Amino acid sequence: MPSAPGLIVRKAHILVTTRALLLENIHPDASARLVKMGYQVDTLPRALDENELIEAVRGVSLLGIRSGTQVTARVLDAAPDLVAIGAFCIGVNQIDVAAASERGVAVFNAPFSNTRSVVELALSEIIALARRLPEKNTQMHAGHWDKSAAGSHEVRGRKLGIIGYGNIGTQLSVLAENLGMSVYFYDIADKLALGNARRCSTLAELLESVETVTLHVDGRDSNRGFFGEAEFALMRPRSLFLNLCRGFVVDHAALRRHIESGHIAGAAIDVFPEEPKGKGDEFVSALRGLPNVILTPHIGGSTEEAQQDIGEFVAGKLADYMASGATSLSVNLPEIALPAGSGTHRLVHLHRNVPGVLAAVNRVLADHGVNVEGQLLRTRDEFGYVLTDISSEYSEAVLAELHAMDVTIRLRTLRSPLRAHPE
Ligand code: NAI
Repeated sequence: MPSAPGLIVRKAHILVTTRALLLENIHPDASARLVKMGYQVDTLPRALDENELIEAVRGVSLLGIRSGTQVTARVLDAAPDLVAIGAFCIGVNQIDVAAASERGVAVFNAPFSNTRSVVELALSEIIALARRLPEKNTQMHAGHWDKSAAGSHEVRGRKLGIIGYGNIGTQLSVLAENLGMSVYFYDIADKLALGNARRCSTLAELLESVETVTLHVDGRDSNRGFFGEAEFALMRPRSLFLNLCRGFVVDHAALRRHIESGHIAGAAIDVFPEEPKGKGDEFVSALRGLPNVILTPHIGGSTEEAQQDIGEFVAGKLADYMASGATSLSVNLPEIALPAGSGTHRLVHLHRNVPGVLAAVNRVLADHGVNVEGQLLRTRDEFGYVLTDISSEYSEAVLAELHAMDVTIRLRTLRSPLRAHPE
């Protein structure tokens, strides 16, 4: 069977090299975890540009980056030993994920590690805005003492509208209810209402029902400009507005108009359509200088706890993938976690998703008298992934025949899926 156009078929036997390279000041817990598993770990506090990375990645099996390092197809071509990439952050836009998949390189990230941090910031801002703390704070620093309660509210009993009821939205829902808020939510997908939260069937229904609106939708392209003039106009007078999801989701000029007119009583914004590239760069925004508006530099998920959790989580995913082939929560490969059975060897086979691959793999094994102890196959888009546990010794001919299959993208063998250390 011919290879798919553009598909590089890598037929390397198990990689014995076990070097890991962690860039961009990844939390030391990540390197500690990998060292404990037997890897040689090199760390660098900064990002590398493409040419530097091409040099650095030679002989590396595991690469850890954050958002500042671009992993391009050129980098991947220079890294034939690379087995997996860990994005020690949430997003993976900095990685050419399609190119990684085509080369059989697994990609992992930490989609949930900073959920709690975002939720806590949102809650603190809801309370701060309801008590008009930004204004009180500014006045105090300017030497003005004003104890007036006008416009200040408890959040207990107030109605919170959560748009996007995913990881963050649901956790916020639970904690907000614990504060005594009444939670309403709107999501385009069917979502289970937690606690006493009420589902709204339309966005308009939510906007007309609540006094505080908070956005937690994902970054899909169709959410560009999702919340603008029409949506602000539907909000109840003197409502509060928060956006801690993506900057391009909200029309900031429209928000400014509604704050200046007094229709919106306060806002907290953590993400912006244009964000400065580096520390010290000027922050330009239509929202600067407005009263009762909290502006934060995209720090919703930036806590030491989240960084530590990301380090642990992604390092754990990389180590599991190396040791057992487990791909749970992989960004690009079919998800499988085959429990360790009695087999002494595990074949890890990534292939093109065409009919009959499992039968073909098993035919090769049967032809060589190799008995299958356990096996699991999953497919995802154009890729198939099969883990096969065998107990008997196998000859090089078995591997050679599996390599020779046109559909094979990558084949690894693990001595035992139970082993904690890399082969
Ligand atoms: P998630 O994927 O678990 O949840 C997103 C939810 O939004 C899903 O339930 C989806 O169905 C829903 N949704 C998407 N478009 C919608 C629309 N137009 N209307 C209603 N519902 C819609 O994502 P998670 O983990 O909860 O993250 C939410 C957002 O927070 C993401 O955009 C993420 O990038 C952002 N984020 C921001 C951080 C920060 O530092 N400020 C840190 C972490 C995440």
